[in-house]
Amino acid sequence: MSQHLFLSLVIVAISPLPGGFQHSDVSPTQENPADLDCGLPEPSSRIVGGSDVQPGSWPWQVSLHQGGGHICGGSLIAPSWVLSAAHCFIRNGTLEPAAEWSVFLGVHSHDGPLDNIQVHAVAAILVPDNYSRVELGSDLALLRLASPARLGPGVRPVCLPRASHHFAHGKTCRATGWGDVQEADPLPLPWVLQEVELRLLGEAACQCLYSRPGPFNLTFQLLPGMLCAGYPEGRKDTCQGDSGGPLVCEDGGRWFQVGITSFGFGCGRRNRPGVFTAVAPFEAWIQEQVMGSEPGPAFLSQAQKSQAGPQEPRENCTIALPECGKAPRPGTWPWEAQVMVPGSRPCHGALVSESWVLAPASCFLDRITSDSPPLDLEAWRVFLPSRPGPERVAHFVAHENASWDDASGLVLLQLSAPVNLSAAPRAVCLPHPDHYFLPGSRCRLARWGRGEPAPAPGAQLEAELLSGWWCHCLYGRRGASVPPPGDPPHALCPTYREEEEAGRCWNGSSWSLLCREEGTWFLAGIRDFPSGCLRPRAFSPLQTHGPWISHVTQGAYLEDQLIWDWGPEGDETETQTCPPHTEHGACGLRPKAIAAGVLWPWLAEVHVTGGRVCTGILVAPGWVLAATHCILRLGATTVPYIEVYLGRSEASPLPQGHQVTSAPPLLCQTEGGHWVLMGMAVRGSRELFTAIGPEEAWISQTVGEAHFLNPGGSPYWPPGGSDLCPPDLAGDSGSPKATPLFLLLLAVLIQG
Ligand code: ARG
Repeated sequence: MSQHLFLSLVIVAISPLPGGFQHSDVSPTQENPADLDCGLPEPSSRIVGGSDVQPGSWPWQVSLHQGGGHICGGSLIAPSWVLSAAHCFIRNGTLEPAAEWSVFLGVHSHDGPLDNIQVHAVAAILVPDNYSRVELGSDLALLRLASPARLGPGVRPVCLPRASHHFAHGKTCRATGWGDVQEADPLPLPWVLQEVELRLLGEAACQCLYSRPGPFNLTFQLLPGMLCAGYPEGRKDTCQGDSGGPLVCEDGGRWFQVGITSFGFGCGRRNRPGVFTAVAPFEAWIQEQVMGSEPGPAFLSQAQKSQAGPQEPRENCTIALPECGKAPRPGTWPWEAQVMVPGSRPCHGALVSESWVLAPASCFLDRITSDSPPLDLEAWRVFLPSRPGPERVAHFVAHENASWDDASGLVLLQLSAPVNLSAAPRAVCLPHPDHYFLPGSRCRLARWGRGEPAPAPGAQLEAELLSGWWCHCLYGRRGASVPPPGDPPHALCPTYREEEEAGRCWNGSSWSLLCREEGTWFLAGIRDFPSGCLRPRAFSPLQTHGPWISHVTQGAYLEDQLIWDWGPEGDETETQTCPPHTEHGACGLRPKAIAAGVLWPWLAEVHVTGGRVCTGILVAPGWVLAATHCILRLGATTVPYIEVYLGRSEASPLPQGHQVTSAPPLLCQTEGGHWVLMGMAVRGSRELFTAIGPEEAWISQTVGEAHFLNPGGSPYWPPGGSDLCPPDLAGDSGSPKATPLFLLLLAVLIQG
């Protein structure tokens, strides 16, 4: 719930008794209650995806305040009664005191006319006995005002439906409120009441959407007394702060309150329409609470007979697919935008909505420093795929922290007219802040800023995302503990096999990192860290900027995480602690590349199905040690076919199509001249090694004849640590607790 200060300075005298409002006689047979003054807005006359309302168009809308701020919405149903949601008034299982609340009537906006506004104290808050949590239903409350509202043009009650009243699914209705305009994005000043058109969804259609795992892989079971309104594709919805407010539908020229804003999963997300408390089923409960109060609420009979029940056409189950991030030919990106500024080379950015392009600030820095002349956007042009000509730029918004080197170096450019999104141009998907890109995700590099063209054909840019925890340890270390999934990572590390092989560096250029989930591409990371040729490369995660981007663009395509199958590496996702550094750094450097033809006699080539080759170490006549990740791939359930070659020199070429996928092991020389295997490279890294020492027991049990120097307590093993990190990398790691190993070692018997 948004808690911004709202109308806290408005003081209005409360006027005496109601005027023209007449109580309906609640006869169930009444058909056309023209004499009842409910559900009628002024004749003249956010909610997500909504718009400002005309003053007086929703005269029953109320704002419920506690502690000087707007907390929830509500609706006036009778001079002394306001209908709202139970969850607004219950904290830690107890009902909050009525005295803490006040009801604002006749409000349009913060700086609208004050003459219509009335503020009323609350005498009592009534909640159904069986209410416990929103997801369990009965989320409604009645507030009895300490003094009755004075009805007039800006303050009128809404009509309530009888229990038998049926509203056809597919009907377009309206929700109103002062709630957030997007997730975690409050309604801006001057807080003009927002309205949005929502379609009523039938129970089956809504349950069908909620039965598909959505955000956080959750599904949800609708209960009787709930109803859904919205769209499978999302984008229009109520949000935090709208709760308790009305969902109204027109029937026979009057507005009936069909629902009470109750809850949702995020706001405006795909396949997650808003859930409302259905009002009609609670007729009896409401009648019971207001009994004896004159005049009471106007429960009116249905005017238009809709085909209720079995005659009503069945809704089919329409699931919305992502509208962003589809690229039929990876490498040709339908969101690729080229921004042309006179006098500069083109700058590559990404289309994130119908009207907005995201680009690195580095392209425009000379133009956004404070002493530069105002931007001449007139001359700027944006080229988008499949558009007949260039687009013009209307606005330029730089991230407040944008600077040359900074990971927040982003700008947003608004096109002067929105483009139609289709196969191309199409927007790229952006991750929500809690997105967790799984290790092993398939990714690609794409041009970004003044990025150079790919050094070789597209395949070069394919990458696989590595486990986040040691990427964090190498690059983003802020405190020794690795953020758990759900917390934004500090860095994303993809590995480029081809690049490793070719020894390329691509140092000067900046790139964006696109990662794919279920065939949908997300802009996952941007701008290389200035990491030189250090591997793995690190990208700054875009997800931390999602809120800023959606705030500015009001409509960028933030998309839910689509893959949740954490697979066998799920264990890695627990909070980890970075490995301690070797204290003496005695063997902090891996062996220099050896001259061609010179052979390390214990080196083995482990060839795995699919053309992968990794390094093994001969540890006994019948045994080669290799890293688990070399043999077992993410998600694989069977051990692949493996061949081991011994005695090959570096000079002998690998078979066609084979590539080395692991870095050399870490070997250290003792004073006696013996080389000792200290560590095996962690997947994708050339700098971080899994220490062999802690595995001594397991190795010697498996391989009786393996040779350990100084059995039982070699001075070479780092105390307590299980990973080795050469001393010149990253900062201090802090707490030197034991690190859970995530690589297991695999023994392979040599045949023949
Ligand atoms: N529970 C929210 C509130 O207290 C209302 C959320 C509605 N969310 C939605 N996605 N429809 O304001």
